[in-house]
Amino acid sequence: MKKLLSGVKPTGRLHIGNYFGAIKQFVDLQNEYECNFMVADYHSLNFIQDKKEMQELIRDTVISYLAVGLDPEKAVIFKQSDIQAHTELAWIFDTITTMPYLMRAHAYKDAEAKGNEVSVGTFNYPMLMAADILLYDPDVVPVGQDQKQHVEYARDTAEKFNRIYGEAFKLPEALILDDVAVVPGTDGRKMSKSYGNTIPLFATREEIEKAVMSIVTDSTGDRPEYVYNIHKLFRSPAELENLYEEHKGKYKALKEALIEDVDTFIAPLRARRAEIESQGDKVTEVLAQGKEKAKTIAEAKMEKVREFVGVTL
Ligand code: ADP
Ligand code: TRP
Repeated sequence: MKKLLSGVKPTGRLHIGNYFGAIKQFVDLQNEYECNFMVADYHSLNFIQDKKEMQELIRDTVISYLAVGLDPEKAVIFKQSDIQAHTELAWIFDTITTMPYLMRAHAYKDAEAKGNEVSVGTFNYPMLMAADILLYDPDVVPVGQDQKQHVEYARDTAEKFNRIYGEAFKLPEALILDDVAVVPGTDGRKMSKSYGNTIPLFATREEIEKAVMSIVTDSTGDRPEYVYNIHKLFRSPAELENLYEEHKGKYKALKEALIEDVDTFIAPLRARRAEIESQGDKVTEVLAQGKEKAKTIAEAKMEKVREFVGVTL
């Protein structure tokens, strides 16, 4: 069986951009691949510096994983901070990586352009992510378009390490689906937690109504493109053709139709989430189980890496 690894950093509520861009692939592929799904909490430390909030976000991400249908019996679901090898390997990668190379990363350049003081953690973010990936020898890493460069950093780093020390790492491929590579938000830009333009994946009916009604009106003619571009996540082009023809120029009616479709899609996810939340401390149990499995894989790899670099005598 081929291998897959991916993860989400717990920095806020998941939205339908995360789902269609990445997490749906996790669910669809868990029967075909040997899967490792991570909660990247050490990446989140770059954004969340509050104990209680961090704990809640980790919990929320695991519950979300389970509610969308990731199955801890099929896939390894674990938290990054539980496996020390991630930070250890990131350090080794830091020693073979140059500053100019990391300065080309989009995330770093964006933070710099905004005039923010960039933390060393943000600067090194791609090396921790390379460690996350390469410890598990995945063939594929399903992500949205915005993470493509990070997977390329992982590939480059694997190549560089292999060149210096010998063949330790497999080169991973990003798995990006063209039509959902960048899911647009309610303002037409990429849907993102940081833009406040999301439809939350477990939104209540009221939240769905509010988000859809706030979709920005674009004045490109009879078809509201921003509404349509979100709508096509839920219905085929043929179905939408009739609907959009019938309600040409009627933004309100089209938004109301979208609200119904989003709610029909989200209602069972909400119910599943409520059910998991009622089942006592499921999260601790899942993470404890995942930690054991992930540790076995990562530690074996890390031991080899220590041998490759010559720190074991
Ligand atoms: P955000 O940009 O909202 O902070 P994350 O960086 O936590 O999202 O992303 C988690 C996963 O979801 C990543 O694989 C990312 O590529 C994917 N993703 C995030 N936003 C989108 C989007 N608008 N369209 C497609 N994929 C997305
Ligand atoms: N950087 C990713 C994001 O912001 C999260 C992440 C951390 C990840 N480590 C990973 C994704 C390893 C895939 C593989 O969404």
